[in-house]
Amino acid sequence: MAAWSVEETVRYFSSYAAKYDEDLSPETYPAPFVVPAWVLERLLDTPELAQLDKGAGSEPPRPLRVLDLGCGTGQRVFFEHPLRDHFRVVGMLALARKLPFAETHCKDIESELDIGLDFDAVVCIGVMDFCRDPSVFKQLHKMLSPSGCAGITFPDARGDGSLAKFNREQIESLADAHQLSIVRSEQLFGYRDSETGEDTHYIGVVLIRK
Ligand SMILES: C[S@@+](CC[C@H](N)C(=O)[O-])C[C@H]1O[C@@H](n2cnc3c(N)ncnc32)[C@H](O)[C@@H]1O
Repeated sequence: MAAWSVEETVRYFSSYAAKYDEDLSPETYPAPFVVPAWVLERLLDTPELAQLDKGAGSEPPRPLRVLDLGCGTGQRVFFEHPLRDHFRVVGMLALARKLPFAETHCKDIESELDIGLDFDAVVCIGVMDFCRDPSVFKQLHKMLSPSGCAGITFPDARGDGSLAKFNREQIESLADAHQLSIVRSEQLFGYRDSETGEDTHYIGVVLIRK
């Protein structure tokens, strides 16, 4: 599990925040472009948005609620989508908010996840790397609406470095233990680790409530 404390994580991202977006590209760090798009795909299948996405229908009864855990500067797939006005994105961050979130909460997601319930989607991209224990799972079932889904990346167990690592069996048993089903799971390139110089990989998953 990760050797970084919350204080170390905050210190690291506090100094990195100003430059973060310069390094963010689908080639150098694809996860925030790929996994939120899987979640968006599922959201667009919800009856509220399916019609609008085809250019028909009236306003949905309410905006879809998205929670971005460890949001950093934010996931562009929601803010740049033509239906962006129908998303209400709540960000939880240690630092670096940039996009126009409906709300942001500066909290440690490992200890203070009392952020509200009934989210249609929860995304948590590039964050499990820094979590000493994957306690976010304990809350997921409760935070998701009955038809909601979550998109999470887990650093693949291969490779060195001091951040947390997970293998497929661990992810499956975490999902199972918390009444969640994995409906999509793919390996993707992570990023080049500045500490070890190695390429890292992620396992990206989409989860729904059992
Ligand atoms: C690699 S960045 C990813 C940011 C964004 N999700 C993305 O994909 O671009 C990791 C983010 O997780 C946040 N983070 C890590 N541990 C956290 C914790 N315990 N509580 C809240 N945020 C945390 C960091 O502050 C940082 O913004």
